[in-house]
Amino acid sequence: MSENSAIGVFDSGLGGLTAVKELVQFLPHENIVYFGDTGRVPYGNRSRETITRYAMQDARFLQSKDIKILIAACGTVSSVAGDLGKEFHIPYTGVLKPTAITAAKTTRNGKIGVIGTTATVNSSSYKKAIQRINPDLQVFQQDCPLFVPLVENGFIDRSDIVVRTVVERYLAVLMENQVDTLILGCTHYPILRDVIADVMGENVALIDSGRETARYALHLIQKYNLANPQKKHGICEYYVSDNLDNFSKIAGIFLGKSVSNVQQIKIEHY
Ligand code: DGL
Repeated sequence: MSENSAIGVFDSGLGGLTAVKELVQFLPHENIVYFGDTGRVPYGNRSRETITRYAMQDARFLQSKDIKILIAACGTVSSVAGDLGKEFHIPYTGVLKPTAITAAKTTRNGKIGVIGTTATVNSSSYKKAIQRINPDLQVFQQDCPLFVPLVENGFIDRSDIVVRTVVERYLAVLMENQVDTLILGCTHYPILRDVIADVMGENVALIDSGRETARYALHLIQKYNLANPQKKHGICEYYVSDNLDNFSKIAGIFLGKSVSNVQQIKIEHY
């Protein structure tokens, strides 16, 4: 591992690309290796044991690619799989801590909403992290199990009645509780940001866990003196555990550019 090594990022599927998109902005000279476990997505309705086993395999695969930082760009893994940095002896971040810190700083009325997968919400991970920062903050949680399948299948348009109806249904309880800050606690959710903003209204601040995590990665790079000295822009390699076509098509939509460097791997071998 050296400063020329890549940043390793993984998620259950496409969601972690919301962190990659931001990483490229914050750290344009870094090379990135991304793994999306598209063959086993979603993680969010599985048991802690299964999620942890999958996360370990994902991290082992990335470690085989000479990485210098490991990022679990997945709210579910960050919530239930423990500290992978200790396991793999590498600077590590999940999405939880950076996102909780920003939300606690942002709220004005002390009421924060959290949306995430069922595993994330059942773990109360964001709630605990926020209340460790400030025990007076109130946290209202809602799981949104239909969001990930919507995103993975390209249902992301704010004018789509199906998308709008699902979003309204899940967010109603958070609106009733008058949250002024909403954590998009699953990295798939920023892809639905427009419709979530339409439903919550302009007075609610949306906190994007992918973005906050990318910002924290910049801090880690500086802290451990790991900046890549190259002058050219870094390259991104993408790996998935299922069909390439679907990934390339939808990944292109929300990265805003075509994705060519994609390969399929057998994650069970790691
Ligand atoms: N993007 C993920 C998260 O942040 C995982 C969603 C899922 O696989 O259920 O939680």
